[in-house]
Amino acid sequence: MNIRQATVEDLLEIQNANLLDLPENYQMKYYLYHALTWPQLSYVADDGNGKIVGYVLAKMEEEPTDVPHGHITSLSVMRTYRRLGLAQKMMTQSTKQMVEAFDAHYVSLHVRKTNRAAIGLYRDTLQFEVHDIEKKYYADGEDAYAMRLTLKEDK
Ligand code: ACO
Repeated sequence: MNIRQATVEDLLEIQNANLLDLPENYQMKYYLYHALTWPQLSYVADDGNGKIVGYVLAKMEEEPTDVPHGHITSLSVMRTYRRLGLAQKMMTQSTKQMVEAFDAHYVSLHVRKTNRAAIGLYRDTLQFEVHDIEKKYYADGEDAYAMRLTLKEDK
């Protein structure tokens, strides 16, 4: 298993993985925008034979009202490759680059209130905290936890 930065050539496979694993889907131009604007921040896990088994799609917030910060747009790992630490590794690589390349002070994300696996990863493993609850954030009416992880203490 190999974690590496995502390239434009990976985007179709990333989009397919996203369609399989999550109800929040995006047009190809949105994937391209991520890959071209913040190439340092999105990662894939490949199985060693070129097959993509997980991805993290990430960006910098473009109109920051406060300090510079990153955002995790989407994360998934294919079912048979879960609990191997792949999501944790991709998240760590992405957030490290947010600081090094873009001076991010924190990273934010949204997660469904009922998504036990993802909340376990974000809160228990990566130490994110719930910053807010956004009522009916998702198209089907489910609430989101808006979570944040501090990457760099404000001076
Ligand atoms: N239940 C409880 N805790 C979990 C679970 C689970 N099912 N899965 C992971 N964790 C926690 C554990 O603490 C785990 O450590 P451990 O295995 O030593 O106990 C830790 O997270 C690290 O897990 P990883 O192996 O790195 O996570 P994985 O590669 O399996 O991916 C993910 C986790 C991405 C949430 C996966 O389950 C998935 O793809 N789910 C479907 C898609 C999804 O929900 N994506 C997140 C949506 S939110 C967003 O995209 C911003």
